[in-house]
Amino acid sequence: MKVGIIATGWIAEKAAQTLNGLSDIEAFAVGSRQQDTADAFARKMGIPKAYGSYSELIADPDVNLVYVATPHSHHFDVTRQALMAGKACLVEKAFMANARQTKEIIDLAHQRKVFLAEAIWTRYQPAVGIIRGLLDQNRIGTPKLITATLGYSMGDKPRIMRPDLCGGALLDLGIYALNFMRMFNDAIILAIDGNCVKSTTGMDLTNTITAVLDNGVVANLQSSAQCVGDNIGVIAGTEGNIIVDNINNPQTITVNGPDRTFVETIHVPQQITGYEYQFIACKKAIEEGLLEPREMPHAETLYIMQLMDGLRSKWNVRYPMDDIY
Ligand SMILES: NC(=O)c1ccc[n+]([C@@H]2O[C@H](COP(=O)([O-])OP(=O)(O)OC[C@H]3O[C@@H](n4cnc5c(N)ncnc54)[C@H](OP(=O)(O)O)[C@@H]3O)[C@@H](O)[C@H]2O)c1
Repeated sequence: MKVGIIATGWIAEKAAQTLNGLSDIEAFAVGSRQQDTADAFARKMGIPKAYGSYSELIADPDVNLVYVATPHSHHFDVTRQALMAGKACLVEKAFMANARQTKEIIDLAHQRKVFLAEAIWTRYQPAVGIIRGLLDQNRIGTPKLITATLGYSMGDKPRIMRPDLCGGALLDLGIYALNFMRMFNDAIILAIDGNCVKSTTGMDLTNTITAVLDNGVVANLQSSAQCVGDNIGVIAGTEGNIIVDNINNPQTITVNGPDRTFVETIHVPQQITGYEYQFIACKKAIEEGLLEPREMPHAETLYIMQLMDGLRSKWNVRYPMDDIY
């Protein structure tokens, strides 16, 4: 599979590094808004083709998968263009600016019969199967409480601070905490609420979310773009707990029994970066003729975006595209 990487920022470089470690999936092309930037990135990462626009990369007939790594604000236009050209797409989280954009893009993929996936990397990682297995084996009894925190001290990064780049901690970091809850407990949410501290630009910088699920579980989720979080996720049950370190790229999964007695720590398999699993999942799904990956169905991408829309609305965190789409 030949991957065309759109944009040349932090995650684009991580993706290229990851793909360089795989044998049957290749970082084949990169597209940037400027030719010089594309050329420099291609040289640095050993990528054969470099384009000075996203459109040119999308038009390359040899690219099998377009990986969209711009800020969230630009995912919609780039993905729409790629889907219209019949190109399979893997789009970074947060998938779109809001649920309306998300629905439009998912509908387009279905109309055009083109594969589309959200690059929420944790969904594709082996830790998911390990943790679901522990829960299925009833190792901690009945889950009652889920807690998850993700925090990075990100300074005044424009894509966190600016409304036009869909800023805020929720779409960048809180999304991992929401996915942690949903991956291991997808019961109906009876109530969800939260609070946040905002920047002078109106973006949420630190937030807390509480959800009550219809199976008696409460989830307490935090994210911050202002501090170094413990980044730990805990599923607490009647007979023990599972502690996941960390929710942004699980490395260890510790099981404790009653009275917090240590039972075992499971280490995930050795990884390139942890981003490889999403590309492998896309290749497999495309080969099977699917339009979405089993690991992260479109309905789930849309549901999480709807949850984030609801929270942003309560916090009055607004993006310019909320008025358009
Ligand atoms: N999965 C993960 O673990 C992970 C981690 C970090 C980020 N992400 C996601 O990946 C996306 C990009 O994040 P990043 O940290 O890589 O961002 P970044 O370092 O700021 O890079 C973003 C890139 O997007 C392109 N771009 C297009 N329009 C832009 C604009 N108006 N302003 C700034 N850049 C623009 C630029 O590439 P060109 O100049 O080459 O066009 C830029 O280098 C976000 O959606 C983010 O949530 C995911």
